[in-house]
Amino acid sequence: MKIGFVQSAPVFGEKRLNFDAVCRLLTGYKADLLVLPELFATGYAFTSADEVKGLADSTEGETAEFARQLAVSTGAVIIAGFIERENDCYYNASLMADDSGLLSAYRKIHLFNKEKLWFSPGNRPPEVVRVRDVNIGMMICFDWIFPETCRSLALKGADIIAHPANLVLPWAQQAMVTRCIENHVFAVTANRIGTEQRGDDNFIFTGQSRITGCRGEILASVEDNETCVKTVEIDPSVARDKSVNPYNDLLKDRRSQFYSS
Ligand code: ACM
Repeated sequence: MKIGFVQSAPVFGEKRLNFDAVCRLLTGYKADLLVLPELFATGYAFTSADEVKGLADSTEGETAEFARQLAVSTGAVIIAGFIERENDCYYNASLMADDSGLLSAYRKIHLFNKEKLWFSPGNRPPEVVRVRDVNIGMMICFDWIFPETCRSLALKGADIIAHPANLVLPWAQQAMVTRCIENHVFAVTANRIGTEQRGDDNFIFTGQSRITGCRGEILASVEDNETCVKTVEIDPSVARDKSVNPYNDLLKDRRSQFYSS
């Protein structure tokens, strides 16, 4: 299967412009799975709850419809970050859509920095969705720093972890090598580039999106801070064999009775 990421440079508050930029980047691309960055259509550096409110969508809103159309044009399952509104709650969320529409939505469980001012923390466990015979789990950006996120997705059978991101700390790209080795999964980290100077904040997003293999190998990466799409062919079933050698298995050898929760 062909999996990939879009590395884009969202302009704060300009949803239509950001949709169009992703469409342009994906012109002519065909794939099976494409991951877009966290909050790819809205930008990240909010300065008020009203801004969050004004840019939010329901799971049937314009971002989900955009993802469905992108699924039609690329043939891929699309994963993309958005602000999910449900009743009076706003979540930093990620949707999964194919050409028939929404398949799943994940609400970020580990909020970073001032996200805690704007968003409700995710209120459901990260789930694995089986689509086209592949098991896909979603997590968002800072979720990486809690190894439990990837581990619980691996325990639920994820072959691929889709990881939309707006990374500002310098460690996640390397850390995902370890996450993939310790869980024997593939990961697609779709990061954004650019800066957002708003209110007291001046975020510099680190780019370097990448696709990491089950043994920690970098299958695709962007060294430069450019907007681009990268894809690679993988066999997702490789992720299902968790043995390290005839005596060790990454999941069966866990001694959970010795781990405090
Ligand atoms: C982050 O979680 N967006 C750093």
